[in-house]
Amino acid sequence: MGEAASHACVIGLGWGDEGKGKIVDLLCADFDCVVRYNGGANAGHTVCIGDQTFALHLLPAGILHDGVEAVIGPGVALDPASLIEEIDTLAQRGRSIDGRLKISSRAHVVMPYHKIEDRISESEAASGQRIGTTARGIGPCYADKVRRHHAIRMVDLLDATFRDERLPQIVATRRETLRRLFGSDPDLDVAAIVDDARVWSERLGPMVCDTTTLLENAMNAGRRLLFEGANGCLLDIDHGTYPYVTSSTTSAAGIPTGAGVPPRTVTRVIGVCKAYATRVGEGPFVTELTDATGDWIRERGHEYGTTTGRPRRCGWFDAVATRYSARLSGTTEIALMHLDTLSGADSVGICTAYEIDGTKTDRMPCDTRTLQRAQPVFEMHPGWSESLRAAKSLRDLPANARRYLDRLQELVGVPIRLVSVGPERTQTLRLDR
Ligand code: IMP
Repeated sequence: MGEAASHACVIGLGWGDEGKGKIVDLLCADFDCVVRYNGGANAGHTVCIGDQTFALHLLPAGILHDGVEAVIGPGVALDPASLIEEIDTLAQRGRSIDGRLKISSRAHVVMPYHKIEDRISESEAASGQRIGTTARGIGPCYADKVRRHHAIRMVDLLDATFRDERLPQIVATRRETLRRLFGSDPDLDVAAIVDDARVWSERLGPMVCDTTTLLENAMNAGRRLLFEGANGCLLDIDHGTYPYVTSSTTSAAGIPTGAGVPPRTVTRVIGVCKAYATRVGEGPFVTELTDATGDWIRERGHEYGTTTGRPRRCGWFDAVATRYSARLSGTTEIALMHLDTLSGADSVGICTAYEIDGTKTDRMPCDTRTLQRAQPVFEMHPGWSESLRAAKSLRDLPANARRYLDRLQELVGVPIRLVSVGPERTQTLRLDR
């Protein structure tokens, strides 16, 4: 065996939507296999290639590179209907996955009743207690995984006896539970779901395998793996702004369990964040701008959800939160996105500390009620008017934009290695400094 290959991951340092799809797509040329390890169809990874834009939810963004193998690991909440639709949409647009996608037999299945439960529990929750989920059934699917009695994994879906005997019981029980919980009759047809499960099994079955062994063999053969985090570190179930989080481990700490690889597999951790901050759904957002500047960022950055179309909340860069998530994941380099979006702002802000109940801190509080009382301490920097879209290197950026990057890097404490100045693959600066 030759020199050990180095494996990397791409993770979001914010509340999702950082632009991970573009970075994965860009780096894929250097990797043989790209692996999703958490989340599900709540994610939305956008990749622009030439005049085509692809929005991927469950498929790893690396699948757009011919020759790259894509793996959906055990930690993913897999919605078969959604995945099949994605595969078919890609095929219609001339992109075939031709045997390159492998799905873990251990991955848990998002069933129609999970999506119904997600939707109803959000609409029934008193205002102030809603999480603002994507309604993709993620929380209820992971809850079933942990509760175990009614959980369904891909390996079960492929088992004809399970589908004919156990599946109808599970669906009937879940229908009854939903009826008792919410007092209305959910639209759940047991026979139709069993039929659907057979179709899902026929379509996806040939791709299902033991991906843990597959990755072990790939690593032994010197193949390079890129792990693709979904959502963002601040949405992490344990370390995020709980309870306004998603239901999986979104940080790099989720890779060993979610992909089934040893803990020290990844040596290069690429943390992706925007030159400003966004959040979609409920929950504390210290640097949020609810004024015309926030609207200006939203329109310039096209900050509307890839998965739900919801307008994203926008604000200035939060160095306290970003430093926290960068440390949590052992980030070794940063990819800074959307720097071009800020062109034209008179001044740009960075939050360097929080003021909470009269005390200043540069540490992220672990309790959400405390975080909700935090006031941002902003440092304002002069903006730049020039478009950055044609920049090819750091030298092409206006001095104020360069100073802004330097300050972000200093505050987060991790080198910025990539700067995105537009949606295209080519609109990316590589910084070797
Ligand atoms: P869930 O993952 O659908 O349960 O949603 C929980 C919270 O995470 C909500 O605030 C969602 O808006 C947010 N969320 C989940 N996935 C993403 C993502 O990929 N980008 C942005 N927000 C997300």
